[in-house]
Amino acid sequence: MFILVSPLKLINFLIMSEKIIIKKTINSFNKSIQIEGDKSLSIRWALLASQATGISKAKNILKSEDILSSLNCLKKLGVKIKLKKKICEIHGAGINGFLYKKNTTLNVGNSGTLGRLILGLLVHSKKRIKIIGDKSLSKRDFIRVIKPLEKFGAKFKSNNGKLPIIIKGTSNPQNIIYEEKRGSAQCKSAVMLAALNTFGQTKIKAKRSRNHTEIFFKFLKIPIKVKKKSTFDLITVRNVKKINSFNYRIPSDISSSAFFLVLTVLSNNSKLTVKNVNINSTRTGVIKILKMMGAKIKFKNLKIYNGEKIADIYVSSSKNLKSINCPTSFNTSAIDEFLIIFLVAAKAKGVSYFRNLSELNQKESPRLKWGSKILNLMGVKTKTTNDSIKIYGNPNLKVDKEIIIKNYLKDHRVFMTSVIAALAFGGKWTVHDKDSIKTSFPSFLKIINEIKR
Ligand code: S3P
Repeated sequence: MFILVSPLKLINFLIMSEKIIIKKTINSFNKSIQIEGDKSLSIRWALLASQATGISKAKNILKSEDILSSLNCLKKLGVKIKLKKKICEIHGAGINGFLYKKNTTLNVGNSGTLGRLILGLLVHSKKRIKIIGDKSLSKRDFIRVIKPLEKFGAKFKSNNGKLPIIIKGTSNPQNIIYEEKRGSAQCKSAVMLAALNTFGQTKIKAKRSRNHTEIFFKFLKIPIKVKKKSTFDLITVRNVKKINSFNYRIPSDISSSAFFLVLTVLSNNSKLTVKNVNINSTRTGVIKILKMMGAKIKFKNLKIYNGEKIADIYVSSSKNLKSINCPTSFNTSAIDEFLIIFLVAAKAKGVSYFRNLSELNQKESPRLKWGSKILNLMGVKTKTTNDSIKIYGNPNLKVDKEIIIKNYLKDHRVFMTSVIAALAFGGKWTVHDKDSIKTSFPSFLKIINEIKR
């Protein structure tokens, strides 16, 4: 049966479908959920499988726009890919085996991780390649990755250190010594990927950050040595001639799980289990911070998949949340979770202080600004500088106003944080650009509905 819809109604529907309106807090719940595959691991798996010889397979790859952009870029570089319902298959091109046309353009969409890591693999590109991205990514800094990759011998043209970027690789890549001072896993990983195809050893001194690439290299038997020092790692990577194809199971994403952990902490009489989450210690800053603030969180069923630690996370509501003077040593391991952590600080007793966080303003949107904007709209007092925020918590916080969130550069984490704030604190919220969740967590709203049921 066909239903005739007038053009005006259709437009209204489309506009309506782009935003979400929430008017009610969530009721108590006791649920167990499974979150989609980890984004950092999904992108790394695809890039490394493209360098292997033979067919590699992954289970539970995240099917979000950032991953589809990764697969599309690899396809443009001549890599054969089959994305099936449960498995993704990549027919690897081998080391330095990309085949592509002159003047190829790769669209990396919204993904900083893809944009920066793929440049590492292109340090050896024989022909020029142009990298473009969406509005948000085009505002972000690429000098941080261009500088070290130039040392290998690649040539770059960029728009003042931003996208679009043109890279022309070198047939004679030099080994480099590189010091990574920001704690950026993207910069470290780009250099590690470039090092795969040099003529010797690349040495990196890196401020500690997520170490998925190091774990992957060990799993793939790529010659790598990591010496752990107090706050940094000394990493040595040797070139390889061949990587054997490999199968991989991608665990669930702790950054996506964090939204539901916080929803549970802030809700009344609720409990939640999130199954099979990657709890690599370079990613669990959020758990440590929430526990310091009084949250009740436990890991159960610990396992190791291909070198990565996995567990089920158990969390329950917390009545007496304490403010935190957040140790800066947690900053890199919680870097993607601060927006959602700020909501817990809003309900904690006392003033919370988070500092040395200038990197937060380098993300999909300036997140320190958005964090304080959301809190201010909720009636929470904040004091914000370029790299810090003080949050004046209120254990009895309730919102009864109308709040509209829009023009936030479609930052998926601003959208999801706003939805959690609405469900936890009340008020009438209109959050625009619902499609922003497609970049990292397409089933976010579906899981909210599962929890509500
Ligand atoms: C990522 C590293 C982090 C993080 C991003 C994913 C990665 O970025 O914010 O979401 O997968 O390597 P930086 O390396 O810029 O800190």
